[in-house]
Amino acid sequence: MKRKKQLEIITPYHPGKSIEEVKRAYGLHHVVKLASNENPFGCSHNVQEAMMAELTKLASYPDSRANKLRKKLAESIGVNQDQLIFGNGTDELIRMLARTYLGDRTNTVMSELTFSQYKRNAIIEGAEVREVPHINGRHDIMGIIDAVDENTSIVWICNPNNPTGEYVREHELIKLLNKIDHDILVVCDEAYYEYVDAHDFPNTVNLMKEYRNLVITRTFSKAYGLAGLRIGYGICHPDVVKDLEIVRETFNTSRLAQAAAIAALEDQAFIKVCREKNRKELEQYYSFCWRFGLSYFPTQTNFIFIDMKRKTDELADCLLRKGFIIRPGSEFGCPTSVRITMGSSTQNDDLIAYLSQLLQMPETETL
Ligand SMILES: Cc1ncc(COP(=O)(O)O)c(C=O)c1O
Repeated sequence: MKRKKQLEIITPYHPGKSIEEVKRAYGLHHVVKLASNENPFGCSHNVQEAMMAELTKLASYPDSRANKLRKKLAESIGVNQDQLIFGNGTDELIRMLARTYLGDRTNTVMSELTFSQYKRNAIIEGAEVREVPHINGRHDIMGIIDAVDENTSIVWICNPNNPTGEYVREHELIKLLNKIDHDILVVCDEAYYEYVDAHDFPNTVNLMKEYRNLVITRTFSKAYGLAGLRIGYGICHPDVVKDLEIVRETFNTSRLAQAAAIAALEDQAFIKVCREKNRKELEQYYSFCWRFGLSYFPTQTNFIFIDMKRKTDELADCLLRKGFIIRPGSEFGCPTSVRITMGSSTQNDDLIAYLSQLLQMPETETL
C-alpha cells in the first residue's frame, strides 16, 4: 500500500488499559481507573432523562448543526451562535483544526510535555512539529514565541496543561497573542476549564473580542462526566468556524450526545459540587507528597503529576495487580513520574494508603 510516509513514525494512540481489561488480566472483581481524567462522580442526574426522551428518535439523523445545544451554549458562555463548532469530543476538533490549517511547508508549535494529539495530528498532516521545552511543567511562552516563524500555522496551548496540570497566566497569553502574526491560530485547549480556580487564568472568551486568531476548545468529557458520549466544542471567530465546517463530518455529534450536553449544561450545581470535591481530594495528594518529600506540579485540573523519585512502570504494574489503573510517566517521557486522576474520597484513600506502603519498600521489592 502507498500509505503516507509520515505514518511510518507514529503508532496508534494508546489510551491506557480499560477496567474490563485489567479485571480479565488479573482476575479482579473490583478495579478503579484513575488514568483518563474522567469524573469519578459520573454526570448530572438530568442527563439520563434527557437521553431517554431521545431514544424514540434514533431512526433519524441528528441535527447536523446541533441548533438547540448551540443556542443554549452560546447563551451560557456569552458568544454568538456562529462562533461555535461541535466535535465528536475535543479530539475531533483537534483533528479538524490540523486538517484545515496544517500540511507540508507549514509548522506548528507546542510544548514538549503536553497533550499528545496535537503532535500526532500535525504529523499525519505532514506539518513540521516544533516542541518547546517546558519550564517546571509550564509552557515557556518566550520559547514558544521564538519558535514561531512565517510558516507557523497553529500554536497549541493546553491550558491547564495535560499531563502537568499547570497553567498559562492571562498576561502570558496576551504577550503571545501580541508578539505573533495575527494569521497564526492560537488554540487554547481548555478541556479542564471547569476545574480551574486560579484568578489569573485567561478569560479567553473575553480576549477573543480582540484577537480573531484565538480558538478555544472545551469538552463535556471531563467535569460534565460525558466522556462516553463524545462531545466537545470550539469557540472561535466565525471565519474560522466557516473553514472548519468544510472538514467537519455532517453528523459528527449524535442525538444522544447533543441531548445529554444540553441537560448537563443546565445543571451547573453539579459542576460546582464536583469542583469543590476535586479541590478537597487534591489536598489529600498534596499532603501525601509533603509526607514523602515528593515533588509535584500544583494543578488546576482533576489530576496530579507527581515525581515519585523511582521508575514508575513497575510501580504502576504493582498498582494494576491491586486493581488501580494510573498513568506511568514513561508514557510522557518522564519515567519517574505518575499522573493520577482524582477519584472519590474512598478511592483516593485506598490508593494513597497503598502508594504509601510501596514507597516504604525498597524499589526492587515493589516488583
Ligand atoms: C488536554 C486535553 N484535550 C483534549 C482531550 C480530549 O477530550 P475529548 O474527550 O473531548 O476528546 C483530553 C482528554 O484527555 C485532554 O486531556
